[in-house]
Amino acid sequence: MNERFNLPEPLKTGRSIEDCLAERRSIRDFKDNALPNTHLSTLLWATQGISESRRDFRTAPSTGFPLEVFTIQDTGIHQYLPNQHGFQILKTNDVRIELAEICYEQPWVEKAPCSIVICAVPERVLENYDERGWRYIWLEAGHAAQNTLLQAVALNLGAVPVGAFKDEELTRLLDLNKEDKETVPLYIISVGVIDYEALKIKGQDYRSDGEYT
Ligand SMILES: Cc1cc2nc3c(=O)[nH]c(=O)nc-3n(C[C@H](O)[C@H](O)[C@H](O)COP(=O)(O)O)c2cc1C
Repeated sequence: MNERFNLPEPLKTGRSIEDCLAERRSIRDFKDNALPNTHLSTLLWATQGISESRRDFRTAPSTGFPLEVFTIQDTGIHQYLPNQHGFQILKTNDVRIELAEICYEQPWVEKAPCSIVICAVPERVLENYDERGWRYIWLEAGHAAQNTLLQAVALNLGAVPVGAFKDEELTRLLDLNKEDKETVPLYIISVGVIDYEALKIKGQDYRSDGEYT
């Protein structure tokens, strides 16, 4: 499958970085709503969007652009294409139950309408930095993930970073390594519309009931 499509322009929410930092919490209670493409577009732009097209430089700092970003939604698995700010469709079936199983049955991973999976092609960095490149790859995944998490706050969405998953099974689910360069999954951010009622019941109503548009 080689079908591609463009995402809409990312939104500019106007929220301050200080508010987003202060409000960020791991949120694990999501409603069923799918994410509109404008929100998805904005989250992916924050994660790995191109902010300087002359050099293809991204919203997150990089030692050699090792990161590849995938989304898992009810519509299937898509790969983010920073250069066209669009998607390549990889699968069209809903694999969120399998993803949650791979994440040791974390229920919020199954419930989240979208999980963003940050992967890396290590060779792009290791060829210049040898073994120290691994450190850079992990640091880069952290930079990108924090961008995603803060952007989720700005959009009044909930998000949780997920590091507990079975590497080989996630590699298989994403069908990585079809090509000659190894690609490894590093980090997942599950995102969704916040279920404020569920948070209140658990006494976790620390995020104000933000307007979700
Ligand atoms: C590297 C990393 C991996 C994590 N993995 C998981 C995970 O697999 N599942 C989960 O529910 N939370 C995960 N978390 C979220 C932490 O549990 C959470 O950040 C912590 O409880 C502090 O809460 P806060 O994010 O609201 O500040 C992870 C956090 C980090 C930094």
